[in-house]
Amino acid sequence: MATSNPQTHVVIVSSPQVGHIVCNLELGNRLVVDHNVHVTFFVVAESKASTGESETIQSARAQKLLNIIELPPVDISSKVEPNSPIFTTLTTIMRETNPLLRSAISALKPRPTALFVDIFGTAALEVAEEFHMLKYVFVTTALPLALAVYINILDKEVEGEYVDQKEPLRLPGCMPVRPDDVVDPLMNRTKHEYRVFLQVGLEIRRSDGLMVNMWEDLDTKTLKAMREEECYGSLPVYAVGPLFRPVEQSDLKSGLLDWLDEQPVESVIYVSFGVTGKLSAQQITELAWGLELSQQRFMLVLRSNNKDKGINLLDYLPDGFLERTHNLGQVVTADWVPQSAILSHGSVGGFLSHFGWNSVVESIISGVPMIAWPLYAEHKMNAALLAEELRVAVRPKIAPTKGVVGREEIEMMIRKVMEDHEEGKAMRARIKELKNSGEKAWAKGGSSFNALSQIAKQCEMNLQSQEGK
Ligand SMILES: *[C@@H]1O[C@H](CO)[C@@H](O)[C@H](O)[C@H]1NC(C)=O
Repeated sequence: MATSNPQTHVVIVSSPQVGHIVCNLELGNRLVVDHNVHVTFFVVAESKASTGESETIQSARAQKLLNIIELPPVDISSKVEPNSPIFTTLTTIMRETNPLLRSAISALKPRPTALFVDIFGTAALEVAEEFHMLKYVFVTTALPLALAVYINILDKEVEGEYVDQKEPLRLPGCMPVRPDDVVDPLMNRTKHEYRVFLQVGLEIRRSDGLMVNMWEDLDTKTLKAMREEECYGSLPVYAVGPLFRPVEQSDLKSGLLDWLDEQPVESVIYVSFGVTGKLSAQQITELAWGLELSQQRFMLVLRSNNKDKGINLLDYLPDGFLERTHNLGQVVTADWVPQSAILSHGSVGGFLSHFGWNSVVESIISGVPMIAWPLYAEHKMNAALLAEELRVAVRPKIAPTKGVVGREEIEMMIRKVMEDHEEGKAMRARIKELKNSGEKAWAKGGSSFNALSQIAKQCEMNLQSQEGK
C-alpha cells in the first residue's frame, strides 16, 4: 500500500551488533513494504577480523527490498583500550565512521530525507544535520530510553554509585528502577563508559523522534511519561513494534522441529542464552540439575561461544545427565538455531532466555511465557517490566550476574511456568493477550503501523523543506 511518495528515500545506519542488525533490517523492510519508502541501509563492519558479510545481511540482500551498503571497518585502536565494554566499543566505531558515512550519503540519489540510528549510532545525527535530514533514534524498549534521555539530570540528582542506592531510582512518571537493574554503563560512574552514556543521552535529545520496538500496550506508563513530562525533552515517541525476524522456509528444515513435532502441546521449555550469552561451568551444572528435577521436557541450547578453549560444554553437565534425561530432552550444541520457528512451535510452552529484546519479542509474539535470565545491556530492566509489571515472566531472586542461581530455584521457576496450576495458567493467558495486542498493533491500521506511516509522511514532507534550503 502506498502511503507516501515513492521518491521518499531514507537512510538507516546500523551498528554491527547482531541483534540490532536484525531489528534495523525489519524496520527497513516495513518502511519499504508497508509505506513505500526507498531505504538505503548502511551496516558498519565491526573489525578487520570480521571478514565477509554475515548470513543475516546476505539473506536480506537476497530479498532485494533494501539498498544495502556495507561500510568498511574503522581503526579505533588509538581511541579505546582493547577489550573495552561493548557500549564504548560500538559507540566509538560508529563515531569514527562519520567521515565515511558523510561521503556515502552525499553520493546517494535521490537525496535522502531522514536518518535512523540505533542506540550506538547517535554520533551520526550530526551528519544528518549537515544534510538537513530528519533524525530518528530507534531503540529496543521505552524505560532504558527514558533513562538515557534523563541520565544527565539523574547525574546531578544522585550522589554516589547508582548500584549502591538504598531506594529505587525515580524517573518521573515511570516505574521505579531497582539499582541492581540499571544498564551496564551505569554500573560504575567512575568509568569512561559512563561518560560515553552521558554523551549519548545528550545526543538523543537532538533527534526529531524516538522509536521503540514495542507497541502501545506493552509499556503504556513509560510511553505516556515520555510524551507528557518535559524532563524527557518533549520529543515525539513512537511505538513501532513488534519488529522481529519472521520464520523463513529454510528454518523449517531443522531436525529440532521434527523432535518438537513428537512432543505434546506446550510441554517443552526452550532454554537459550542468545548469541553472546555466557554461563559459568558451575551455572551450567546447576541449570542442568534444575531441568532434570523439574521433570519437564526441554530443549537446551549451549552455544560453542560459551566454550573455553578446548573444553567441551557437555563436560559441565552432571554425570549421567544425558542418559537420565534421554526421553525428556534435547541438548543442542550449535552456534545457530532457528529460534523463531522453535518458539512458534506448538510444543513449546516456556522460554528460559537471556532476555535480549529480540528474543523477548519473539516469545511474546509466539504466546510463550518466560523465565528471565538477564546477563547484560538493558536486559535487567526488560526483565523487571515483563516479570513485575506485565507478569508474563518469572525471574530468579538474585541476578544471574551476581551469583550462581541454584538448582532448586531453577526447578521451581520451570514448574511455575510449565505446570498447569493457577499461576502458570494466568501467565499463559496474559501473554496470549499481549500476543494479540502485538498482532493488532502491527497490522494495517494498527497503532504501530500508523506510527510508522506518520514517520514516513514526515520523511516525505522533509523533501520539500530540504528543497527550500
Ligand atoms: C568502580 O571502579 C573503581 C575503579 O576501577 C573501583 O575502585 C570501584 O570499586 C568501582 N565501584 C563499583 C560500584 O563497582
